[in-house]
Amino acid sequence: MIIVKDLLKHYEKGLVKALNGVSFTVKKGECVAIVGPSGCGKTTLLNLIGALDVPTDGEILVDGKNIREHRQYNRFRAEMVGFVFQLYHLIPSLTLLENVELPMYSLSLSRKERKGRARELLSEVGLVERMNFYPTHVSGGERQRAAIARALANEPKLVLADEPTGNVDTETGDIILDILTKLCRVRGITMLIATHDKEVTDRADRVIRIRNGLIEELPQ
Ligand SMILES: Nc1ncnc2c1ncn2[C@@H]1O[C@H](COP(=O)(O)OP(=O)(O)OP(=O)(O)O)[C@@H](O)[C@H]1O
Ligand SMILES: [Mg+2]
Repeated sequence: MIIVKDLLKHYEKGLVKALNGVSFTVKKGECVAIVGPSGCGKTTLLNLIGALDVPTDGEILVDGKNIREHRQYNRFRAEMVGFVFQLYHLIPSLTLLENVELPMYSLSLSRKERKGRARELLSEVGLVERMNFYPTHVSGGERQRAAIARALANEPKLVLADEPTGNVDTETGDIILDILTKLCRVRGITMLIATHDKEVTDRADRVIRIRNGLIEELPQ
């Protein structure tokens, strides 16, 4: 599902070497944890795979296609990738339902279909009763669950999660992990989770360790 070859990402004209030649592959439906000390390049890696940023060098293939070949990165993201961030990134002026609907505007759905699907997704993450609330009126865990529902709005093949449990307590983190790992299993979604959370690494199919922009050891 994902092939990463000799990936390099340098910032500030080469002064900051965030990734120094990273290679690995991920199979379809696998749930892989990306771990390593702060600043080792986890977020950078997810941003490159999700085409939020472009590599300095190296290749990334997603579902058999080099992402450089996608002429429109927006389209690639909208069709293939769901993002879950540590700080949720929900739009505060929209209700949870409207937030989940948002990515669906790039599909040709009627208003009714869009609302129906958003409601279904929110009910899958246990939030149907909160769907007309604004993000500031719900808890951190509820926000993150809404963000997961939003990530699934376009039925992505790949979900990229950057410290999805970084801002919630252990119990809420468990609920979020339950939802994410279930998605992998039930929907066959491939998932990469950047994390410092040992719970995540325990539950992942595989762990990739990064240090100083390099893979530290080959996955078990
Ligand atoms: N836009 C940027 N411009 C310059 N340097 C950057 C930029 N983004 C990240 N870096 C640097 O690249 C390196 C890798 O950063 P990255 O955010 O990928 O680390 P991380 O593993 O996600 O860390 P954390 O666990 O703290 O989230 C760091 O040294 C960081 O300072
Ligand atoms: Mg990070």
